[in-house]
Amino acid sequence: MTFTTAAEGLPRPTAEPFRLRRTFAIISHPDAGKTTLTERLLAAAGAIQQAGMVRGKSGTRSTRSDWMEMEQQRGISITSSVMTFEYDGLTLNLLDTPGHSDFSEDTYRTLTAVDAAIMVIDAAKGIESQTLKLFEVCRLRDIPIITFINKIDREGLAPLDLIDEIQDKLALDLTPALWPIGQGVDFGGYIDLVEKRVLNPLGKPIAEFEALDDLLDVQELVDNPTFLTALETLEMARAMLPEFDLETFQQGHLSPVLFGSALKGISVAELLRALGDWGPEPRPQPALPSPIAPDEKKVSGFVFKVQANMDANHRDRIAFVRLCSGTFTRGMRLKNVRSGKDMAVSNPMFFFGNNRELAEEAVAGDIVGIPNHGTLSVGDTLTEGANINVTGIPNFAPEIIRRVRLTDHMKTKQMAKALSDLSEEGVTQVFRRMMGSDWIVGVVGQLQLEVLASRVAKEYGVPIAFEPLGFEVARWVESDDPEELKRFIAAQKTNMAEDRAGAPVFLAQNSWWADRAKQDWPKIRFLTTKERH
Ligand code: G4P
Repeated sequence: MTFTTAAEGLPRPTAEPFRLRRTFAIISHPDAGKTTLTERLLAAAGAIQQAGMVRGKSGTRSTRSDWMEMEQQRGISITSSVMTFEYDGLTLNLLDTPGHSDFSEDTYRTLTAVDAAIMVIDAAKGIESQTLKLFEVCRLRDIPIITFINKIDREGLAPLDLIDEIQDKLALDLTPALWPIGQGVDFGGYIDLVEKRVLNPLGKPIAEFEALDDLLDVQELVDNPTFLTALETLEMARAMLPEFDLETFQQGHLSPVLFGSALKGISVAELLRALGDWGPEPRPQPALPSPIAPDEKKVSGFVFKVQANMDANHRDRIAFVRLCSGTFTRGMRLKNVRSGKDMAVSNPMFFFGNNRELAEEAVAGDIVGIPNHGTLSVGDTLTEGANINVTGIPNFAPEIIRRVRLTDHMKTKQMAKALSDLSEEGVTQVFRRMMGSDWIVGVVGQLQLEVLASRVAKEYGVPIAFEPLGFEVARWVESDDPEELKRFIAAQKTNMAEDRAGAPVFLAQNSWWADRAKQDWPKIRFLTTKERH
């Protein structure tokens, strides 16, 4: 195998600081162990004294963002959007992708700001729905993924079955990097194919090898039937799976797999090593008229998330900007390409959990928070003056579609303004039916609706409620044949809406009807994502 290892002493270039950035996210289904792993990674890197410290005082976890709770604790709203820490001469930026009920478009969009992702899978459950969705978003941008199969200290599916399932459901090639010796009560350590050694359950090396067969000469291992079974399945996996190749990984087409346990700290150091050694440097950012290379001298960045700072009186908001190029310094004037306006960025911030500090300098790959009063929206590009627009910041087809009910009809205008502002901010998507005058909102998570109602009431003084519309699926529609698209829209008039940019959206009662429409209209493309304008 052609692994590159830290043990061999990877030279870390010193000339350009951006090359030392690793900006990543952890994707998983709730309960797979993301919070636990985050804590362990921070502890392993020495960023926190002991695992558990990122949990809040009340016993709640501050690595998990809970909008409603934060709303009560005004001022610490942005707690855990980014965690920046040092490891082995690198600066790692870990971006939070909230799960659970606070799952929202932000969760998806955060993935547009990372260069790599760790996919955590529960060994007993395999691929679950939210992992699949998040993975699909990563695939849109070919984000390289390291697979961490968690909870190996418990009974779970067999390693080969897990690998089969992941390859099948995700259509992603895998390659073993760290293989478990037994599982659950039988767990007896692991084989590290990168450093070519065998470790006991505590992570202590007990044997080294050149070729796996060498291990058959180690009496202590051969006497252990669990080891022999592990070796056999590993040989099968290697025969069946491609070898690791750094370039293929970095192109997002091959994922190294590590089996471990976040709770017990097993394989966490190796995961960090994989991220440091293989995780790509900041990648070029798709943009128009041309992509932005991270080594370009001029500063550029884009807003991937806007978080209201809960202070309704001031309408203070933090825009999270991923830097794409140049060296940003505090006080710099940047142009918002969308509005054409310049702004002096005097209070940019870095975050670590609950703490924030002024960002004096930042480079490509870094995330800075810029306080503003609504001038920055999701998808905006900031530059030193150049007219470049970062592309690929999508809206996602909503999974919850509701009609907005206004209880006070004198306030229609304010409601329209509120919905339009908040859709610009990325809190919701707004649609207008082509027939009738309904205002429709679409979100991907229930909590997004609650946040929306609460903000419209508090910030705009308009009480609203939501009611079901009888639609569960929304798809943007396109066709190479404009006449066919017109025919489709005419035929489906009662099921059609427009998004805020005027693009046509097909609404279906459920996925069966959506599939049916797809079959009936083969020349129409039904899209689950649409770039923001
Ligand atoms: P999440 O952020 O992905 O939702 O998962 P979280 O880390 O909260 O973990 C979910 C549950 O799984 C927690 O148990 C956690 O302790 C457990 N867990 C995480 N990693 C491992 C592991 O490697 N092995 C085992 N056996 N369990 C693991 P809980 O009982 O729900 O919460 P808690 O009371 O322990 O906090």
